[in-house]
Amino acid sequence: MIREVITYPNPILRKKSRDVEVFDKELHTLLDDMNDTMDKYGGVGLAAIQIGIDLNVLIINIPIDNEGAENDGKQLDENLIEAINPIVTHKDGELVFNEGCLSIPGFHAEVTRAENIIVEYFDRHGEKQTMKANDFLAIAWQHEMEHLSGHVFIEHLSFLKRKKFEKEWKRQLKENSKK
Ligand code: CO
Repeated sequence: MIREVITYPNPILRKKSRDVEVFDKELHTLLDDMNDTMDKYGGVGLAAIQIGIDLNVLIINIPIDNEGAENDGKQLDENLIEAINPIVTHKDGELVFNEGCLSIPGFHAEVTRAENIIVEYFDRHGEKQTMKANDFLAIAWQHEMEHLSGHVFIEHLSFLKRKKFEKEWKRQLKENSKK
């Protein structure tokens, strides 16, 4: 089921998520709904808090890079990552990436994060998993985990860029409310 995506500056996005304790059918429905929602809006990742559920749950599906081929840019089911209670156990390097977010639609900005990470998490059945991620995938992990801690990527912007963003965002919200 497609759920509504909460957008900035809704205070729910500032809520810190809590760990999942039971790996039951309800959790599986949440994950399925998150995937339907991410699919619908064309996201690369989604945190549960973005649909109003304050649990440490995130999903990521990196589109495949297969330039020229028919499936270029498609998100394949087998590449879907479902992560419960994730923690970063290692990070190194630095990478600047132009990020976007389904909760701040239409806005993109460059953010610096670690280039390589190791994460530990549980899958939907409660099995512990470890993953090494780098480049775009590492960025996606860090972006989604930031949501779980109650933060969004625009908090990385410089003071002036943030000010400019807030002004533009307010103008846009006003315009949309007239429609
Ligand atoms: Co986001």
